[in-house]
Amino acid sequence: MPRINCNQDSSGLTPECKVLEGKVNALISKMSLDEKIGQLVLISNGPLMDWEAVRNGTAGALINFNNAQDIAKAQEMTAKTRLAIPLLIGLDVVHGFRTQFPTPLGEAAAFDPDLSRRVAKAMAEEARYVGVNWTYAPMADLSRDPRWGRIIEGFGEDPYLGSLLTAARVEGIQAGGLVATVKHFAGYGAPAGGREYAETLIPQSELYNFYLPPYHAGVRAGAGSVMSAFNALNGKPSTANRFLLSDLLRDQWKFDGFVTSDWGAVQELMAHGIAANELIATAIAINAGVDMDMMSKLYKRNLYKAIQLGLVSEETLNQAVRRVLLTKYRFGLFEAPHTPAERVDTVFPTDASRGLAREAAVKSFVLLKNSSDLLPISQDVKSISVIGPLADRPCEQLGPHAARGGCEDAVSYLKGIEKRASQSGVKVSYQAGCDIFCTDELKIEDAVATAKTTDVIIAVLGEPRDASGEAASKVHFGLSGEQENLLDGLLKTDKPVVLVIMAGRPLDITRYQEKLGAILMTWYPGTEGGNAVADVLFGDKAPVGKLPLTYPRAVGQVPVYYNHLPSGRPHLDDNRFTYGYYDESYLPLYPFGWGLTYTSFNYSDLKIEKAEHLNVEQDSLKLSVLVQNTGDRSGEEIVQVYVRKPFDEESRPVRELKAFSKVSLAAGEAKTVQFEIPLQNLSFYKEGQTEVAYQVSPGGYQLWVGGNSDARLSAEFSIEKGSIFGARFQ
Ligand code: BGC
Repeated sequence: MPRINCNQDSSGLTPECKVLEGKVNALISKMSLDEKIGQLVLISNGPLMDWEAVRNGTAGALINFNNAQDIAKAQEMTAKTRLAIPLLIGLDVVHGFRTQFPTPLGEAAAFDPDLSRRVAKAMAEEARYVGVNWTYAPMADLSRDPRWGRIIEGFGEDPYLGSLLTAARVEGIQAGGLVATVKHFAGYGAPAGGREYAETLIPQSELYNFYLPPYHAGVRAGAGSVMSAFNALNGKPSTANRFLLSDLLRDQWKFDGFVTSDWGAVQELMAHGIAANELIATAIAINAGVDMDMMSKLYKRNLYKAIQLGLVSEETLNQAVRRVLLTKYRFGLFEAPHTPAERVDTVFPTDASRGLAREAAVKSFVLLKNSSDLLPISQDVKSISVIGPLADRPCEQLGPHAARGGCEDAVSYLKGIEKRASQSGVKVSYQAGCDIFCTDELKIEDAVATAKTTDVIIAVLGEPRDASGEAASKVHFGLSGEQENLLDGLLKTDKPVVLVIMAGRPLDITRYQEKLGAILMTWYPGTEGGNAVADVLFGDKAPVGKLPLTYPRAVGQVPVYYNHLPSGRPHLDDNRFTYGYYDESYLPLYPFGWGLTYTSFNYSDLKIEKAEHLNVEQDSLKLSVLVQNTGDRSGEEIVQVYVRKPFDEESRPVRELKAFSKVSLAAGEAKTVQFEIPLQNLSFYKEGQTEVAYQVSPGGYQLWVGGNSDARLSAEFSIEKGSIFGARFQ
């Protein structure tokens, strides 16, 4: 998709963009008030679809259009309207259109921006094929709260990883032909108590250091649109938040696209208690900077009157229309051919999309535990049992928000394992044990009896896809229904048990952790999930994923995250009056960045090229570390670099991820891995500036390198001259 950058820098608009602005202004001068308002109206397909609005040119954008027939019909109608302004045709393409890739939290575990870019492009191309030209992705909401169901749609708890992946997804989505939407601006991922749609209370320094950078990265990567969040941030609903939508997003970040509300959110300003009626809600939203009204129909019903009454100026309206039209021009919508109505999405998945889905799924898996090298399944194993309600559930493994994902296209875990096992002559027995909610325990005994007769048990447990995603916040993290009874039964057989978790959040497995032979977190892996699981279980591919969030021991620890501030009383095992809990360890079950593979690594020879007198204006932080594969299989490791500023004007996190890199090593091989970290990436929110600013503080720093956030190999460096930046990461 052609995309013309209209970011204003110090030299103003680019000449190309000036031409487009001219076209936009010429068009606006011909538009009636109704036509202008129409450009700000986003309406949904479905039984109540307002086709009349499309026919008379008073709808600027559509949502939930997922097939070529409906899209072609809408385009044909639009072409006959007075000004024939093309429609934005939007759909949630969150982790796939027809081919489903791993849900974003799983994708984040790959720590692989290039993979995220390729996946995003592939899913966008499929949607574009049937005429979709706009999507509501990526979700850049950082979250530390797995109670929140939508944590599955984001990239976890780290702002650096989240920023890289948000930018990669924006680039991929737009390279694949869709306008990307960075959502949900801002702070949607921190609802109080993890309750869906609850208010967020985020202190300023947390907001600027952790929550905002991923959105900013998406904007800087050129996203065409931004979606405001449903909830109130520090007392002000995002849909009414002029500071967020205008001062920060436009004036400081120079965002050159348009802002859409979330579904019905303009109307919800009344329930939020900041607008007494529809008219006021309309005025508040557009004056704050919400250009487009998704499905509350308030702009359609009230904007005209709001302008007549002087609650909204005509210039504000024109400005919003200008942004929408400019986006349509910049992304080539005026030149784009209409979609042929006969196109069908059953042309997908293709061999190529399946290949990419399988690669992405393998890379998303995190091996949490593997005692006595239980995995990969050894050649001595002659029989395995696959047990569990999610083992043969192709629809469930697609995960929530699966667009047009076809269950019939998906390879279930059981089918993938059976196929691969047959190649090695391994016998597979299968028992679901119970239904997907595991409310019926009748078959558990049969399942355990079957499992007892096999050499290794693969238990596929977790939560159905409906228990994840929007409106799926949870307070219980245990294996639901009778799954715990099933697992207890399997563990009593004395056969080794591999727990394969299919879920949208870390589940509470603390009491099983010791007894399980191996634990593989597979999130919702998508269409090729079963083949990918088989690849990893049988060792054709080694797991390489790392946790993009901290895995709690108990739900009461939540929020638990690795980059917290230091306590004045650091934890001491023998002193109760130090950081921690009375009834549980303060440590998580697995730290951020954790993930095993089929070999092991040793880190040594950490060297910093210039460790003293670094100057932000001239230097970067260059370091190297020797990583050796100490096992007898080849393997890949995601090498992670963490930094701490131990003393500053404000407390600084105990560790923060600042770089990572994947290295492949043959058995016994050692390689020097090098990093060059821009010093800007060490910056931290600086209070008291007129614009949001980040400061690289001078002074001493600590650094650790290793395979997870608990890395021990360390070094120190110091910065002599600091500086101030407008973005936290370069
Ligand atoms: C969600 C958005 C989504 C929109 C349109 C809302 O309920 O919060 O993320 O893009 O629906 O489907």
